[in-house]
Amino acid sequence: MPEICVIGGNRYFGRHLIRRLQAAGARVTVVNRGSAPPPPGTDHVIADRDDEEALGRALGARTFDAVVDQVCYTPLQAAVARRVFAGRTARYVMTSTMEVYDPATFSSPGSSAAFSVPAPVPVPAPAPVPVPESVVDPVRWPVRWDLPWASSKDLSRLLGEATAYAEGKRQAEAVFARDAVFPFVSVRSAHVLGGGPRDFTGRLRHYVDRVTAGRPVSAHREPAPTSFVHHEEIAAFLHWTATRPGLTGPVNAASHGALTVTDLCEAIATATGSPAPSYRAVRDGEPASPFSFDRSYAMSNARAAGLGFAFTEVSDWLAGAVTETAAEIAAEIAVEAAVEVASAGTHGRRA
Ligand SMILES: NC(=O)c1ccc[n+]([C@@H]2O[C@H](COP(=O)([O-])OP(=O)(O)OC[C@H]3O[C@@H](n4cnc5c(N)ncnc54)[C@H](OP(=O)(O)O)[C@@H]3O)[C@@H](O)[C@H]2O)c1
Repeated sequence: MPEICVIGGNRYFGRHLIRRLQAAGARVTVVNRGSAPPPPGTDHVIADRDDEEALGRALGARTFDAVVDQVCYTPLQAAVARRVFAGRTARYVMTSTMEVYDPATFSSPGSSAAFSVPAPVPVPAPAPVPVPESVVDPVRWPVRWDLPWASSKDLSRLLGEATAYAEGKRQAEAVFARDAVFPFVSVRSAHVLGGGPRDFTGRLRHYVDRVTAGRPVSAHREPAPTSFVHHEEIAAFLHWTATRPGLTGPVNAASHGALTVTDLCEAIATATGSPAPSYRAVRDGEPASPFSFDRSYAMSNARAAGLGFAFTEVSDWLAGAVTETAAEIAAEIAVEAAVEVASAGTHGRRA
């Protein structure tokens, strides 16, 4: 029976991953800080992955065929995991992100004095779109230990939130990939959609809320396409990578069919029977809605597809994801209306 460890696993698609691993006959150990009960049938190890000593102690003598690290955001966290899991696992999968390709988060000299001096992070040549994995090579990506990785607040203040996230993932991948102590895979996930209230990011909900209410969506004048993946599909993909011994290095995970923000809003209008969406064009440098981009870094999924993973088309599941979110909104509105009626009744009786 394969022994798989999932770090995280209690918020979004990490839960699906655990379910899939169990259904395939694996014994699953879940490592998190215990904010929610673990899925039934798992071995629950309660530890903060940032605390090296506590993590090692909590794991005890356990060893694994694979670890899937769902919550690694910095090279500091990667360095801890590298030390703790060396000799404990036959392979290591880190859930990374397509944001590693976002050209707006590559530093260049002068873009942030604190970040670019003395050793600027390289700015890759303009990437071909769809972007292949080779554009960001973790083996060669520099790790900047001088950045304040231990404080997400200080890091975001210094780099901005988007660069802190993207650079944290790039440098975490680099720590694992360089002088690897176990075979390592970084899964660069597209934007994950679906699951209604399970999608804690609220990004799809932002659009469903506005389109169904006839409110304008902030968008760039010429929005660029981006990549998406269904929440069950990314769980299936992580399962596939965790149990495929020959696969190492970075691998992109995205359903076929990149969409612009206007494509997304039109699909929402069609799925919900809403009028045609309206837009408010943002000015240069002004923030837009979460899936509006003025640059394209939609990903190529050719590597994984070539190795045999059968990706879906976004159009196979998008209407279903929208309907789940619309149902979530409708249920909340119904509860609010019921509370209002009940409270009007209470006031009426008092009057
Ligand atoms: N959503 C997207 O569109 C998207 C796109 C690309 C990549 N990703 C990546 O997907 C990953 C998240 O997936 P998910 O939301 O499904 O996560 P998940 O597997 O459900 O894990 C989240 C859980 O990890 C635990 N955790 C957080 N920090 C911890 C720590 N220091 N020590 C131990 N446990 C900790 C938390 O539980 P406790 O509070 O109990 O510890 C948290 O609820 C991230 O790596 C993100 O970068 C997401």
